[in-house]
Amino acid sequence: MSAAASLLLASLLSLAAAGPAFHTFIVQESHSSTPQGFTKVGPADDATTLNLRIALASSNFAGLEKALYDVSTPSSSSYGNHLSKDEVNAFLAPTAEATAAVQAWLDSHGLSATKSSSAGDWLSLSVPVSKANQMFAAQYETFEHNASGKTVARTLSYSLPAEVADHIAAVHPATTFNNPAGSLKPVLSIPKAPSSPTANLSSDATPSSCATSITPACLQSLYGIPTTPATESSNSIVVSGFIEQFANKADLTSFLKKFRTDISSSTTFALQTLDGGSNPQSASQAGVEANLDIQYTVGVATGVPVVFVSVGEDFNDGDLEGFLDIVNFLSAEDQVPQVMTTSYGENETDMSKALAFKLCEAYAAFGARGTSVLFASGDGGVEGGQAQTCSVYQAAFPSGCPFLTSVGSVHGISPETGSTFSSGGFSNYWGVADYQSSAVSAFLTAQGSTNKGLFNASGRGYPDISAQGENVQIFSGGRSGGVDGTSCSSPIFASVIGLINDRLVAAGNSPLGFLNPWLYANPSMLNDVTTGSNPGCGAKGFTARAGWDPVTGLGTPNFAKMLTAAGL
Ligand SMILES: *[C@@H]1O[C@H](CO)[C@@H](O)[C@H](O)[C@H]1NC(C)=O
Ligand SMILES: *[C@@H]1O[C@H](CO)[C@@H](O)[C@H](O)[C@H]1NC(C)=O
Ligand SMILES: *[C@@H]1O[C@H](CO)[C@@H](O)[C@H](O)[C@H]1NC(C)=O
Ligand SMILES: *[C@@H]1O[C@H](CO)[C@@H](O)[C@H](O)[C@H]1NC(C)=O
Repeated sequence: MSAAASLLLASLLSLAAAGPAFHTFIVQESHSSTPQGFTKVGPADDATTLNLRIALASSNFAGLEKALYDVSTPSSSSYGNHLSKDEVNAFLAPTAEATAAVQAWLDSHGLSATKSSSAGDWLSLSVPVSKANQMFAAQYETFEHNASGKTVARTLSYSLPAEVADHIAAVHPATTFNNPAGSLKPVLSIPKAPSSPTANLSSDATPSSCATSITPACLQSLYGIPTTPATESSNSIVVSGFIEQFANKADLTSFLKKFRTDISSSTTFALQTLDGGSNPQSASQAGVEANLDIQYTVGVATGVPVVFVSVGEDFNDGDLEGFLDIVNFLSAEDQVPQVMTTSYGENETDMSKALAFKLCEAYAAFGARGTSVLFASGDGGVEGGQAQTCSVYQAAFPSGCPFLTSVGSVHGISPETGSTFSSGGFSNYWGVADYQSSAVSAFLTAQGSTNKGLFNASGRGYPDISAQGENVQIFSGGRSGGVDGTSCSSPIFASVIGLINDRLVAAGNSPLGFLNPWLYANPSMLNDVTTGSNPGCGAKGFTARAGWDPVTGLGTPNFAKMLTAAGL
C-alpha cells in the first residue's frame, strides 16, 4: 500500500471511530426562571454580536494554590519567594489536549478565538447570537435589568459538547445575571449648591474632628501611618477604575493643597488604559469613586507610585469583564504591581459559580506573583454588595474568593465601631479557608445560635480587615464633601500595605503579596474592633466582637505593629 493510501485509510478510520463530533451536549449551568431583578423582553436578535469569553480549565490549579500558600504563609520556608510569570502560567495554562479539543470544536463552527490571558486559559471571540445558540445548545434572550433599564443578552441555560465539557471551565456572557450598571458606588454627601473648592470643609483635621470627619491626617494619627515619603520607585499601588469613573487631577491637587500641605500639591498618579479606557479631565466627568480611590492612595501612601488603570467598555458590558480584563492585563506584565485596590463588587448569587471560581483563580495567580489584592467588601451589610430585599443573608462577590483580601468599614475613634453598611458574612461558593478556620470557628462559637439559618456556617468568612469608611473627605468636580462606603476603606488599607512594601523593598525583601495568611497569623498587629453590627434582611446582622468577626474582620491597621510583624 502506498503511503498516501494508508494515510487516507487512517483518516477515514478516525472519522468513523469519532462518529459525529460535538453533538452530545451536557448542561453546564442553568436557572429555573428569570433571576430576580431582571425581566425577560424576548428572544435576542439572531444578528446581535456577543463578545464571548471562554475559560479553559487550568492544567494544575491545585499546584498553583499550594505554591500560593507556600510563598504567602510566614512559617513556610518559601515565604516571599514569589513566582515568575512563566511559573504561574505553567500552572494556569490548559493542557495540550484541552487546547486541541477546544480548537477542533471552534473549527467545526468555522471560528477562531484570541487568547486573552498570557497563560492562554482565557479565549475571546465575537459571534452572532444565532451561532452562540448552536455552540451552547442555548437560547439567548434579551433581559432588562429593572433598576437601570439596561438590557443584556443572556441565556437561562448553556451546554457544552461532551468532547470539550471537561476542558471548558466557564463561558460568559451566559447564565451570569450581574448588575450591568456596575456597583459599590460610595454614598456621597456633597453639598447640593456648588461651593468653592475650600469652602464648607470641617475645620482643620484635629484628632477630635476625626470622630465625625475623616481626612489623611486622621488616618495618620489613628493608624500611625507615617508622613515620610516612600523611596522605592519599583513599588506601586494600582487603583482599578471601571464604568467610566474618571480620576481628576485638578481635584487631586485641591485635595493635596487642603489636606497634605506637607507634600507637593502637584504629586500625581500614572495612567494605564485597556479595553478602550481613558481618563478625561473635565470637572463634569470627574468620578466620585475614582477620585476617592486616587485621593486616599496618593494622599495617604506618601511617595508610593500610584497607577490608575482605567478599564474601558470595549468588548465588555460592565464591571464583570473589567474585573477579568484588568487582572489578565496586569498579569501579562513581567513586573506586577505590589498592590491592587478595587472598590466595585457584585452579589455572589448573581454570578455563575463556574465564572466566579475561574475569576478567583486569577486572583490566586496574581497573589502568587507577589500582588496584594484588596477589594471593598460591599455596602449592603448582610444584604450583600448593596442594600436589597432578602430573607436570608446575601454574600458579596468577589469577597468570598479566599485568594484576596476583603476590607470592611468602621467609623468613630474611641472606640472605632463597625459601620452598619459594612458587608460581611459567609460565602455560599467557597468554604472557609484554612488560614482563617480557627478565627472563624471562634466567632461562630461565641455567636452561638444567633443568626442561625440566615447564613452558611461552612463558608469563607469576610471581610478580613477594615478601615475608616464614613464621612471621608474628598474633592470631586471642584467641590468638597464627605463620602461613605467600604469604597473608602479599601484604598486606605491598600495605602498602608503600599508603605510597608516600600520599606520591605528598600531593605531588599519581598513585598507582602497575598496578605491573608500573614494577617490571620498576626491578629494582634491590628486594632480589634468590638462594637457595631451590620443589620439587614429584616434581622440584626452580625455583631462585632473580640477577634475576627464578619463586620470588621480582624480589625484596622496599626502601622508600627504591622512593620514589626513584617520583620522590620
Ligand atoms: C422587574 O420588573 C418586572 C416588570 O416590570 C416585574 O414583574 C418584576 O417583579 C420586577 N422585579 C423586581 C425584582 O423588581
Ligand atoms: C456651608 O457654609 C455656608 C456659609 O458659611 C453655610 O450657610 C452652609 O450651611 C454650609 N453648608 C454646609 C453643608 O455645612
Ligand atoms: C444585588 O441584587 C439585588 C436584587 O436583585 C439588586 O437590586 C442589586 O442591584 C444587586 N447588586 C449588585 C451589586 O449587583
Ligand atoms: C454553603 O457553603 C458551602 C461552601 O463551603 C457550599 O458548598 C454549599 O453549597 C453552601 N450551601 C448553600 C445552601 O449554598
